[in-house]
Amino acid sequence: MTHEPPTLVPSDSKQSFLNDVIDGLSATPKTLPSKYFYDEAGSALFDRITELDVYYPTRTERGIMRTHIREMAEAVGSDSVLIEYGSGSSEKTRLLLDALPNLTAYIPIDISAEHLAATTRRLRMAYPNLVISPIAADYTRPLVIPDDPVQRRKRVVYFPGSTIGNFTPEEARQFLRQISAVIGMGGGLLLGIDRKKDRDVLERAYDDPEGVTAAFNMNLLKRLNRELGADFDLDAFSHEAVYNAEMSRVEMHLVSIGKQTVHVNGEAFTFHAGESIHTENSFKFDVSDAVELAASAGLELVHEWTDANEWFSVLYFACAKRL
Ligand code: AVI
Repeated sequence: MTHEPPTLVPSDSKQSFLNDVIDGLSATPKTLPSKYFYDEAGSALFDRITELDVYYPTRTERGIMRTHIREMAEAVGSDSVLIEYGSGSSEKTRLLLDALPNLTAYIPIDISAEHLAATTRRLRMAYPNLVISPIAADYTRPLVIPDDPVQRRKRVVYFPGSTIGNFTPEEARQFLRQISAVIGMGGGLLLGIDRKKDRDVLERAYDDPEGVTAAFNMNLLKRLNRELGADFDLDAFSHEAVYNAEMSRVEMHLVSIGKQTVHVNGEAFTFHAGESIHTENSFKFDVSDAVELAASAGLELVHEWTDANEWFSVLYFACAKRL
């Protein structure tokens, strides 16, 4: 039993946060990277989103996992090292941890150090015999996971929630290549993907009547005000979610209600009425899209599990090629 503190990697220095924000607000159209949603408040809001009725991905994926957990556990392997990218509250992971009592180690990786520490504390109480080695890091950047030269167990990356959909296709390709490098030949990837479906279902999922997703989107501006001394007037922007069918993605925007000027670190940014900051893409996939993406990283599909509506799929890939 180990109780080491989280490995804290200074992932996003304030300077790179500021640079990304200035670059994004200087671009046309204006953008902000969605990875900055996840400070402590943003992570808590995201957890609330996952409990909303209209936000079907989480409960659908959980249902698929509950139904097929035996087969999934078999695919992962009983004494593997399970590495979770963007672990958040590790809620769905518990199904795997319960089904894999002899796991060699669980390595949760998350950008929010506070959230990771709280989750790790809870997991250590629930699984006192499991080795848990958290890493606080921006997993979109190349990451070295310390090797265990003695055991050299099979490594399996768990990347649920269709978070892969928040990358551009090129970023997703690169990210999958990084995963291949981390797991090596014979390693595995258990990946959740949100499927293409009706516009109505998609747009409701990203614009819930309780306004939790709006608060999640708006929290980004709050964060800019607090951490970068920006002066966004939160009442002067509104949340918008639209399905761009041509690009197969739900887009989230913060739309300026009127003409206004906002300052970040002494730089002025002008908005015309109706001008948006594009804050997130959430790409939706056919299974064949995901198979094609993964193939570019040497990953081969071994299993596919889905729900009755085929709204979501959990895919198990094996790393079959040294890149
Ligand atoms: C984390 N990610 C998969 C979520 C999604 O559905 O793209 C983030 C989110 N944005 C709005 N609601 C949820």
